[in-house]
Amino acid sequence: MQQVNLGIIGGGTVGSGVFDALQRNGALMASRLGVGLQVTRVAVRDLKKNRAVKIPRALLTTDWREVVCDPEVNLVAELIGGTTIAREVVLTSLKLGKPVVTANKALLSAHGEELFAAAKKFGTNLYYEASVAGGIPIIKSLREGFVGNRITALYGIVNGTCNYILTRMKLEGADFAAVLADAQKLGYAETPPDLDIDGHDAAHKIGILASLAHGFWVNPKKIHVEGIRYISALDIKFAGELGYTIKLLGMVKKLESGCRVQVSVYPTLIPNAHVLASVNGVFNAVFVRGDIVGDALFYGRGAGKDATASAVLSDLADAALDLKFGTKHRLPPFVPHECSGAVAPIAEVVSQYFVRLNVADKPGVLAKIATIFGEANIGISSVIQPEGHAGESVPLIFMLHYATNGAALKALANIAKLPAVKGKPVMIRVESFE
Ligand code: NAP
Ligand code: HSE
Repeated sequence: MQQVNLGIIGGGTVGSGVFDALQRNGALMASRLGVGLQVTRVAVRDLKKNRAVKIPRALLTTDWREVVCDPEVNLVAELIGGTTIAREVVLTSLKLGKPVVTANKALLSAHGEELFAAAKKFGTNLYYEASVAGGIPIIKSLREGFVGNRITALYGIVNGTCNYILTRMKLEGADFAAVLADAQKLGYAETPPDLDIDGHDAAHKIGILASLAHGFWVNPKKIHVEGIRYISALDIKFAGELGYTIKLLGMVKKLESGCRVQVSVYPTLIPNAHVLASVNGVFNAVFVRGDIVGDALFYGRGAGKDATASAVLSDLADAALDLKFGTKHRLPPFVPHECSGAVAPIAEVVSQYFVRLNVADKPGVLAKIATIFGEANIGISSVIQPEGHAGESVPLIFMLHYATNGAALKALANIAKLPAVKGKPVMIRVESFE
């Protein structure tokens, strides 16, 4: 049987997971593909590090170039993370005509356009299934399964760390910092974890899905991103009382006019009756709406050694088949096809809102706030001033009808200037999935 020699760059959570998974299921894959995968070299930073998965010393090196440029290595997996050395690893491999598999969403977000162009130029492919939603095969599904659809909307819970934190805060009333430390121990979080909790990791992933769905590489700077740091136990509690669950939700929505698309990541109130509200823990889900297929839902582990390794194995299989049969007959992993596509500015995007204020408990305050919303032409669908909050200031919660983000933010800025309003207003968007 033909054999493909694999060089792995990185032996951490994902790299060691791939090594382990190939030990377990390499023979099965070979029998399915008609081509075997053999790990020939593995590059790491520290040869002396104690690893949960033992990689034979003879395979290890600290010099990634030794792996990539080894004439015996014909397929490279970039699993180190970051955007500098990883970019060099990928470009060097592609220039040598070697297919590359990466799990690195930060790299693709920043340099995707350049890397896919290089793959095309050098007649090979760059695969990236593990870069989005861990073990869920969403890249292949969008690329192949939905090739006949226009994707009108896509919603994703695509950061395992944030979903794990928000779930434990809701179900156990757990403390943010303690749960984050657990997510780090479990190998879910990025280094540093700010990439997760500030929403950037989810933005990298949602940008990749938006690019694939709409055929133009989304500039990450155009994605509106908010993380979960400002979500408090109070917001989770009041959202729950109103029948909602807070999730960090990535959204890609085709707007009515032209080729403009909303691409955003922010904490969102999801109705408890919607399936995405019950995606808990490290699990991810991607909800896709296509003009032909209708609604489709994908669910699975979004992070961790084995789930991510499963996605890498699927790409390794595609790359091995490229080497066996050539790339000409295959749909390339990314095909630009929408030259006039653009991301809509968030100020123009229309949403509904949950607003939590901390206000002085005095007559007339509610009327002043309602006047500002009224003057901005923003309708109020409900107001709650929960009882049992004695003190000088009390929480006041508004649910607002559809308004542009620009109008809502301007009204909130005016409300924040009222002397009766204490601290910064909290505004969380509400999604009805219509
Ligand atoms: P990790 O545990 O920190 O592992 C990184 C590995 O890269 C380590 O083995 C490290 O070596 C090695 N490394 C770093 N710089 C190197 C260099 N210059 N030369 C050679 N080796 C180098 O990270 P990870 O969690 O496996 O993540 C890897 C990639 O997968 C990232 O792009 C990440 O975003 C992505 N990803 C991760 C997950 C997940 O659940 N963890 C899921 C999906 C995608 P040492 O071991 O010697 O330090
Ligand atoms: N840090 C990422 C997450 C890893 O928590 O989702 C998977 O991409």
